[in-house]
Amino acid sequence: MDAYSWRHDLTGVDLEELSHLFRIAPLGNKPPQRLQTVFGNSMFTCFIYDGTTLIGAGRALADGADCAYIGDVAVHPDHQGNGLGSEIIRRLAALAEGHKKIILYAAPGTEDFYLRLGFRHLNTGMGLWSDPERAVAVGILR
Ligand SMILES: CC(C)(COP(=O)(O)OP(=O)(O)OC[C@H]1O[C@@H](n2cnc3c(N)ncnc32)[C@H](O)[C@@H]1OP(=O)(O)O)[C@@H](O)C(=O)NCCC(=O)NCCS
Repeated sequence: MDAYSWRHDLTGVDLEELSHLFRIAPLGNKPPQRLQTVFGNSMFTCFIYDGTTLIGAGRALADGADCAYIGDVAVHPDHQGNGLGSEIIRRLAALAEGHKKIILYAAPGTEDFYLRLGFRHLNTGMGLWSDPERAVAVGILR
């Protein structure tokens, strides 16, 4: 863990490299300009570097008191299984400490990862998706 450096500021992050990280993690195709918007509008961000190479990221969109939403958490495949994903979540949760709730939805198959970190299932969680058919197809919505 000491070999890595951690940043919590979007300034200086190469958005092409961030987009590449999400593609290979894999967490889908996220164009650099959209990443600028969503990370730029997030109160808390987290980036991990191995030397000069970006190998992990995550963010929390937060209102400063009531609710924080964690999303876009990914670790480079060569570095998965080293505890980095867990540390990203712990750091974002610590930064968002004081919010009444910290919520997220897990990529299908990653539920156990979040359960181990203390997250619990929402009984009444619901969402409006711009492409609900695709969200149903990948297992996010029912
Ligand atoms: C999910 C992800 C962020 C986890 O990062 P990581 O650095 O590999 O996770 P950690 O090393 O901290 O793993 C912690 C524990 O969770 C487990 N775990 C990791 N990924 C898991 C997964 N997809 N499903 C279930 N358990 C998982 C690990 O086996 C580990 O267990 P252990 O402590 O008994 O060894 C990473 O696999 C990833 O980037 N996946 C692709 C993108 C993605 O799905 N992101 C989540 C979006 S909701």
